[in-house]
Amino acid sequence: MDKIAVLDFGGQYAHLIANRIRRIGVYSDLFDGEIDAEKLREYKGIILSGGPQSIHAEGSLQCDPKVFDLRGAGSDLIPILGLCYGHQIIGHVLGGKVEPGRISEYGKANVNISNKTGIFEGFCDEGKDAQDVWMSHFDQVTKPPPGFEVTAHTSDCIIAAMQDVKRRIFGIQFHPEVTHTKNGMKILRNFVEITGAKHEWSIDKFIESEIAAISEKVGNKKVFMMVSGGVDSTVAFTLLERALGNERVYGLFVDTGFLRKGEREQVEGIFKAIGATNVRIEDASGEYFEALKGVYDPEKKREIIGAKFLEVQRRVFSEMGLNTNEWMLGQGTIYPDTIETGGTKHADKIKTHHNRIPEIQKMIEQGLVIEPISQLYKDEVREVGEKLGLSADLVWRHPFPGPGLAVRCLCVEEERYPDKGVAEKIQNGKVLPIKSVGVQGDVRSYRNPVVLFNQPKDFTALGELSTRITNTVPKINRALLLLHPEKIDSITIQKSHLTPSRISILQDVDEVVMNFIKEKKIDREIWQFPTVLLPLSINGVPGETVVLRPVESEEAMTANFYKMDFALLDELVERLKLVKGVSAVLYDITNKPPATIEWE
Ligand code: XMP
Repeated sequence: MDKIAVLDFGGQYAHLIANRIRRIGVYSDLFDGEIDAEKLREYKGIILSGGPQSIHAEGSLQCDPKVFDLRGAGSDLIPILGLCYGHQIIGHVLGGKVEPGRISEYGKANVNISNKTGIFEGFCDEGKDAQDVWMSHFDQVTKPPPGFEVTAHTSDCIIAAMQDVKRRIFGIQFHPEVTHTKNGMKILRNFVEITGAKHEWSIDKFIESEIAAISEKVGNKKVFMMVSGGVDSTVAFTLLERALGNERVYGLFVDTGFLRKGEREQVEGIFKAIGATNVRIEDASGEYFEALKGVYDPEKKREIIGAKFLEVQRRVFSEMGLNTNEWMLGQGTIYPDTIETGGTKHADKIKTHHNRIPEIQKMIEQGLVIEPISQLYKDEVREVGEKLGLSADLVWRHPFPGPGLAVRCLCVEEERYPDKGVAEKIQNGKVLPIKSVGVQGDVRSYRNPVVLFNQPKDFTALGELSTRITNTVPKINRALLLLHPEKIDSITIQKSHLTPSRISILQDVDEVVMNFIKEKKIDREIWQFPTVLLPLSINGVPGETVVLRPVESEEAMTANFYKMDFALLDELVERLKLVKGVSAVLYDITNKPPATIEWE
């Protein structure tokens, strides 16, 4: 199959480029930017991604210069497209000049195209010579390498694009891969045409070839898999069943006690619907609550939950007598988890955690692990799910963390206010006496949130205010909007750990929220919607405080808070007020960074 390689120089869009190329119908792999050029010989084209560095900074990432001399099967030089930092690498390595720009360009720009053929064919609107694009750079190429023609400029960037048509090398300072660049896909399509890569990748073909590959790899063995009811593990499980039949595929689902309301029954339903007969449901909730009694520290909570999970898994393993002569292990790993680049290390760590007990480690070492969707991005996994006939409800499920509601039910031993003087700096704001997690400059921060009241119903203005506060007020990493009651006269904190009754309140509010967004058909606009319980009662009203945390995101590395229509939000609050145990309702108006999506 013809393929295109994307070299990742740390840009936030590297995965997006590979994903877009696949959407065009050509399979694409993502590699570390500094990969040895020899390994790329079988690729029909190479794309150099953007990146956050300056090419002149010490230790800055550069590609293997041999990439530019690489010849493919037909002994032609392999075509290269550099985007943003990738464009600057071309300028720098091939003998041009890269310098700091007079001004940085971030955001929308208008680019003038001086050669509308080849890579820019059809990019400008009919009769126009310019197009709206997305720029994000400080350095720029100021002198093209020998043999290069300048093909585009903006008012602030003299070489917004350049090319050496003979050698088929193209550099573009802006980002064609993002939707803010109008007709950006046109450029990527033109590049794919230039490479001559055949359009051989499609989800249908993937399903067909993967089913054949599973049968071959598994042979006569059986496959065991941990399932969560999420889209990845269910799609992987379904593919295994299609390939091997339901007799030879076994699933284990652990009920930790921190599931959503009715989730266990839902998961049973999902597997029944796909005809799975061997899914074991292990109720370990009692053990979990017991192990978490009197635990307040969030990291300790996670640690206990992880360890318990392994304990349950190991118990089932030995009960089932899984031996490596007869068994293989299935996993729902997806493509971004397998790529060791900056953006995905975190996800990788979280997901592999549960799959490293010694028994499993042994299977991995012996090559007895099968990962049917490890080549796919999330949107592709969803498409496979749809094609395999899984329900839309399942396919479009929001991601849900392994420790479940446990990380959304804050446990607090005593009140923790920041130093004196912080609260007074924020107008119409009240600092809460608890802390939540944030990411500020790549490190996790535990800081206090501030609740804002008497605010206009305008999420754009509120977003700006939130950013200003977290940027300027030390010790604050989150801003919340007070939805109910109208003002805060007093805050009482209750010493709390994880208990079935607290989880039950959280399940009730979470159920109201999830049903509400489905009913109003906004569930697909929202990437994930944690509802968080804080052991705080407001103005003496008994119960706990609920925080709504809907976000928009691509892969969870960054996120924006979701700006819900205020009329809808008022309706939701009315429903939440009716839930027993709710003292107050707040709305999280913080992006990631500076706050994480989850609160712990
Ligand atoms: P944060 O809160 O760091 O979360 O912005 C990013 C994404 O990861 C999920 N998450 C977890 N998933 N185990 C998981 O399986 C965990 O311990 C965990 N913590 C966070 C979170 O829901 C979000 O999608």
